[in-house]
Amino acid sequence: MQKSGLKPILWNDEKLILLDQRVLPGSASYLTATTMEDVIHAIREMAVRGAPAIAITGAFGIALYLNGCSSKPSYSELNKKLTELLESRPTAVNLRLAIEEFLSRFPEKSYSQTTLSDLKNGAETFALFMLEEDLGNNLALARNGLSLFPNSPSDLHIVTHCNTGALATAGHGTALGVIRSLRDAGHSVTVYADETRPYLQGARLTAWEMKEEGIPAYLITDNMAGWLMSTRKVDAVIVGADRIASNGDTANKIGTYPLAIVAKHHGVPFYVAATEKSMDFRIPDGSHIPIEMRKESEVTTFSFLKDENGKPLLDEGVIAPAGMEALNPSFDVTPASLISGIITERGIVSPVNETNLRKMFPETT
Ligand code: MRU
Repeated sequence: MQKSGLKPILWNDEKLILLDQRVLPGSASYLTATTMEDVIHAIREMAVRGAPAIAITGAFGIALYLNGCSSKPSYSELNKKLTELLESRPTAVNLRLAIEEFLSRFPEKSYSQTTLSDLKNGAETFALFMLEEDLGNNLALARNGLSLFPNSPSDLHIVTHCNTGALATAGHGTALGVIRSLRDAGHSVTVYADETRPYLQGARLTAWEMKEEGIPAYLITDNMAGWLMSTRKVDAVIVGADRIASNGDTANKIGTYPLAIVAKHHGVPFYVAATEKSMDFRIPDGSHIPIEMRKESEVTTFSFLKDENGKPLLDEGVIAPAGMEALNPSFDVTPASLISGIITERGIVSPVNETNLRKMFPETT
């Protein structure tokens, strides 16, 4: 199966090179991170974003931190750093799972026998493994997604929200990965990409990926889904996930929940595409998922994307009166009852409920 040639995360000569997603689609330029602080900044400011990409970047952040240590950090110093990293963005569970997996390779009880060189090598190996693992999982997930569209080849019209493509992952993508693979399998696919206010991941990033790949796509504003589904053929909605609770409630980019309601009303199947790394079996339902609140200026202006010197990265555009208060939850939770199926690297979970999720991932805690 063909995979996207986009490389948003590169590890080169012990430096982390990230495609700066804040300046897309204006320019495709890379930034270099050499410390954990650089990595935290890149995640917080969303130079890198998307749950899997955040986790992989965080893993390289651990490698950068350890490479910068001249002596072995104590276990509590190491944990303090990892907590700082974890706090960079709270909603997606992928970063927490990555940190826990790294720590499980260096448990406290044997830490005194671990050398700094073991830690450095272990962190680099782990981060590179995550990069490879995510790409493999995305390709497997996308292959499984094909089974939902058995009439082949067919003319498919798919709505997606936010950006879940190569930019948000190690490559290929989750929801966009399914779309890519449908096209590669010979379907004629047309994408309706929600612009995804306020950060415009759909307009700036998904639209860019679709153009780069030559997949026919229309950009729509987030409030057009009702019109679209009542006037045109829509075969499915496919979105990604930042965290899936035990019962299947799914946190994803703000605007996903109303999209699921509109899809339900119109009888359009609504799929979530996500790997095991987005599952959180420690929480019973979506009410336990922390929702990141971001700056009001992301809602009140189009000029919130600024460079290090405060210069707008996009054209200036204030769209609300000075001093206007705004709410900016970055994610919402779609109840499991609105989700037709969860497309994973192991298969499709449907109906979406705790029994079926646990059956698909029996060893996941
Ligand atoms: O705020 P973002 O851009 O990090 O939000 C991204 C999303 O909500 C994606 O849908 C999700 O992380 C899945 S990406 C494969």
